[in-house]
Amino acid sequence: MSGPQVYVFDAYGTLFDVHSAVARYRAPLGERAQALSDLWRVKQLEYTWTRSLMGQYRDFRALTAQALDFAGARLGGLSPDLRAQLLDAYETLDAFPDAAPALKALKARGCATAILSNGSPEMLENAMRSAGLAGLIDACLSVDSVKIFKTAPEAYQLAADHFGVSPRAISFQSSNRWDIAGAARFGFETVWVNRTGQPDEYADLPPGRILASLADLAT
Ligand code: LAC
Repeated sequence: MSGPQVYVFDAYGTLFDVHSAVARYRAPLGERAQALSDLWRVKQLEYTWTRSLMGQYRDFRALTAQALDFAGARLGGLSPDLRAQLLDAYETLDAFPDAAPALKALKARGCATAILSNGSPEMLENAMRSAGLAGLIDACLSVDSVKIFKTAPEAYQLAADHFGVSPRAISFQSSNRWDIAGAARFGFETVWVNRTGQPDEYADLPPGRILASLADLAT
């Protein structure tokens, strides 16, 4: 068989729906629900990049809580109960419906599968377990072991080191275009899963393939 035999996936936004936490609390959040979810995600990612640039790592769980605190404060405040419920929900996000079938198809073809994520190891374990993906993923790699977030090359190196292969032998799937840029720069074969029809960016670091969902990955 030709082509990569190792398929490495970003977690949040690619396998797990980051907006499924807020979706469970739409009623108490009211009209601000979507804005809160969007700002929560934007700030969470911003903190990973600022922390990496300043060389002051804090784990993704802590940054996720800080981002929720900012978004909540910006959008009218959150009660302590609702804050705790949202953070709990982030530990058990829904997987996208195409995630398990895509992983199963790759496993059926004899491919190796992994997560490579900014997420803290325990968050990722919780998410895989609650979404029923744990048995379909051979390795769960967290940047926590190198204490710097994607798009630092050290983060992508974790996957090449784990599998003992060159970057070109790895197909890296992410819905986050910034992550695809970093992975392409590192040397992975890349698949941008453009779930929400975003315009392209990072033109000098293009994805190898663009899919609308993970459904076509193993075809
Ligand atoms: C991940 C996030 C940041 O690395 O998408 O899983």
